[in-house]
Amino acid sequence: MNTKKHFETEAIRNQMERSQFSEHSTPLYLTSSFVFDDAEDMRASFAEEKQKNLYSRFTNPNTTEFIDKIVAMEGAESGYAFATGMAAIFSTFGALLSSGDHIVSCSSVFGSTHALFTNYLLKWNIETSYFNVNQPDKIEKLIRPSTKILYAETPTNPAVDVLDLELLGNIAKKHGILLIIDNCFATPYLINPIKYGADIVVHSATKLIDGQGRVLGGIAVGKKELIQEIYLFSRNTGPSMSPFNAWILSKSLETLAVRVDKHCENALKVAEFLENQQKVKKVKYPFLKSHPQYKVAKRQMKLGGNVVAFEIDGGIEAGRKFLNNLQMCSLSANLGDTRTIVTHPASTTHNKLSKSDRLEVSITDGLVRVSVGLEHIDDIVNDLNFALNTYI
Ligand SMILES: Cc1ncc(COP(=O)(O)O)c(C=O)c1O
Repeated sequence: MNTKKHFETEAIRNQMERSQFSEHSTPLYLTSSFVFDDAEDMRASFAEEKQKNLYSRFTNPNTTEFIDKIVAMEGAESGYAFATGMAAIFSTFGALLSSGDHIVSCSSVFGSTHALFTNYLLKWNIETSYFNVNQPDKIEKLIRPSTKILYAETPTNPAVDVLDLELLGNIAKKHGILLIIDNCFATPYLINPIKYGADIVVHSATKLIDGQGRVLGGIAVGKKELIQEIYLFSRNTGPSMSPFNAWILSKSLETLAVRVDKHCENALKVAEFLENQQKVKKVKYPFLKSHPQYKVAKRQMKLGGNVVAFEIDGGIEAGRKFLNNLQMCSLSANLGDTRTIVTHPASTTHNKLSKSDRLEVSITDGLVRVSVGLEHIDDIVNDLNFALNTYI
């Protein structure tokens, strides 16, 4: 019998051992520490001769269940869960890099990741060189003898560009450097970067993994020996996920596949609607034929994701007016929620960048990002339609 289970089954049936109460759904272990039978049990547990929970900054049954599920979904060897996505990204760099090391990163990365490269890693003499998402042919020229990591997100936030993971995997392998992918927008349901040669995959679990805008979380999964480094760094520095958040997120994973299927179905309909609007100059969605990396997206993604970016006619002012005219969609900083969320990066998240720096990461003045939710598609489209037709 084939014992390898399907993604959906793994997400539901990959569950921690039952307690003496024979519960059906996983209980919550809100405890900061664990007890030992005697002095010898405690000694052997600390010496790692036994695999036991010692203290919830290190491990906890709820975080272990959440990690085990994502490890299985991503096809990884091991993982560690964090309080936020940024904690996962920072701890991965903190654990794997030393002073003098160099990173090659796509310039279109999440704002706080960019701030980490420019404001903090530089303080520890770790430099980053950037390649443009549309010029992957320039990546190899940026690699130096001190380069340790090739880093990227796909699809990117907020411009929904797509990077060819096979190409990145081949470059990393050829140069003997680590490939780290932030898989937040795709989730393990749509892409498994490890298949293409990623050594570590990081996620902000705050987004589609939670899917209901409730808790923050992050995770890094990948090769066992690298995760062990990340685990030791984190066990000492303390960015671990709380058992409560792990309990919520592990339950969220049970419905990830059905939720993401519906998010993607709604997002494609929103993208198709926007493409037919006169006031919309351009729409970017990975599964629209007009997307510059449509073929790559079709090859490496199961579906197109839940984020649609579009360029509204009239620049910054038009973008702001469009947001003001929405009646139902939320104006919020999160994404991947059941509720559709609309943002205008040029006047909010990226307003501290100069116009030319914004353009370098594909953020034009009229760019609007829609994180398409799970409301009825007709209500989402009606709201966008109303706001588009009343903004001037
Ligand atoms: C692509 C990406 N990576 C990382 C993060 C950071 O995640 P968190 O907010 O959970 O720290 C975000 C947050 O929006 C994101 O969009």
